[in-house]
Amino acid sequence: MIVSDAPLPLVGSIAELRATIGGWRAQGRTVAFVPTMGALHEGHLDLVREAGRRADQVVASVFVNPTQFAAHEDLGRYPRQEAEDARLLAGAGCHLMYAPTVAEMYPDGATTTVSVGGPAEDLEGAFRPRMFGGVALVVAKLFNQVRPDVAVFGEKDWQQLAVIRRMVRDLDFPVEIVGVATARDGHGLALSSRNAYLDDGQLAVARGLNGVLAEAAAKARAAAPLAAVEREAHAALLRFGFDRVDYVAVRQAETLAAFRSGVVEGPARVLAAAWIGTTRLIDNLPV
Ligand code: PAF
Repeated sequence: MIVSDAPLPLVGSIAELRATIGGWRAQGRTVAFVPTMGALHEGHLDLVREAGRRADQVVASVFVNPTQFAAHEDLGRYPRQEAEDARLLAGAGCHLMYAPTVAEMYPDGATTTVSVGGPAEDLEGAFRPRMFGGVALVVAKLFNQVRPDVAVFGEKDWQQLAVIRRMVRDLDFPVEIVGVATARDGHGLALSSRNAYLDDGQLAVARGLNGVLAEAAAKARAAAPLAAVEREAHAALLRFGFDRVDYVAVRQAETLAAFRSGVVEGPARVLAAAWIGTTRLIDNLPV
């Protein structure tokens, strides 16, 4: 992987993107893609470095996708720092940043949607009903625009990764999907662009999430009844100082379906979403 201090080439239109990637393809080069909403942190840079190990050229998109936010959500205040993102991407070995405008991505009159089911239906899908349809739509469009050989996503958004894997299989996108383990701070807090919303006191509470999930995962692994594991983890989060818990759930790792027997039988994941003030955090661990 070649890492340089040179400014990162940045394109904003589909035509420029295709011209650059077409040039690489003409030289027989492979392409890896990392879709992001910017406000990049080490977790995103891990994805870029993994992309660099998997293909000759790395493209990262920076696009805060309006179709995955509901009207009351944080689209307006979502952190934006394009110049800093470009610097970080270049340092991690990215070769091209694609930062389209909303008008480029969703031209006037756009009406086509992507409808998602299966792993999208519960958990995040129940609390943020717009989100996975919006994610699937933008990721499908980005795949058609970039046409990567490989696309790299973070396991931090485990359910999103499951939804994208399902969409790729269902719609026959010719792309390999790679998941990368969640990057965490020294206290186990999953890195997230939304951590920027937290003050020091809130950060201390947020750092409790990983430990509660680790304990729930250990109990589930030891065949404890999942209803009790989930109830206890929910109570532990409130005790820790979270203001509200949307869910703590142990689910089948690939489909996100519940275990009908009420105990873990096969690959599983414990997932949670909880609020500190007006900030909603999600995290997950393998069981
Ligand atoms: O995970 C994200 O940052 C976004 O959901 C994604 C995949 C870039 C789509 O907007």
